Amino acid sequence: MKTTIGIIAGSLRKESFSRKIAKALIPMAPDGYEFKLVAIDDLPIYNQDFDDHNEVPESYITFRNNIESLDGVIFVTPEYNRSVPGCLKNAIDVASRPYGKNKWDGKPAAVFSNSPGAISGFGANHHLRQSLVFLNVPVMQQPEVYLANVQDLLDESGSLKDNKTKDFLQQAVNAYITWFNKNHSTNS
Ligand code: FNR
Repeated sequence: MKTTIGIIAGSLRKESFSRKIAKALIPMAPDGYEFKLVAIDDLPIYNQDFDDHNEVPESYITFRNNIESLDGVIFVTPEYNRSVPGCLKNAIDVASRPYGKNKWDGKPAAVFSNSPGAISGFGANHHLRQSLVFLNVPVMQQPEVYLANVQDLLDESGSLKDNKTKDFLQQAVNAYITWFNKNHSTNS
């Protein structure tokens, strides 16, 4: 059976650069691994009443099961106001609850950030790591992945334009897989 790594893009935008980068990672999975996009588009804003009063939306159940079935996660996040976009934080919150049933628990992750600007989502990248500490998600430290001027890295069809970026991302993926194999637990 293949090891499954979820790729989560932190944007709902149709032409999202983050989603394009996430898609570009799919064929970079080495033999024995499957990279699959996990959508966060249909998750209502988390409300604890859903869990407390047994009114959990169907989309939460599907998403929580999807996260549970993963072995690891690569987050591809843009930056909103020097932090993570609300849709990504919401997805993290949804799969972290109800209390005691954190679906992220122990799943090794990588955080790749991007921006059309020069700071490349650094603030979002590190804010995301803060939440992952609490959720007991080990996060790859090196290499760090910050993609600046992301619009220049993609062609009109949404594919990566140049080999330099492709090679950089492939190396980051390879490093993640090596690190993943040292850090994943067979229980998660
Ligand atoms: C942004 N953007 C942005 N960019 C950045 O580098 N740092 C930031 O703090 C912000 N803040 C911010 C707030 C809000 C509310 C929006 C809508 C946008 C710009 C952002 O990087 C740009 O819109 C990206 O294209 C968003 O990522 P996707 O949707 O292309 O993946």
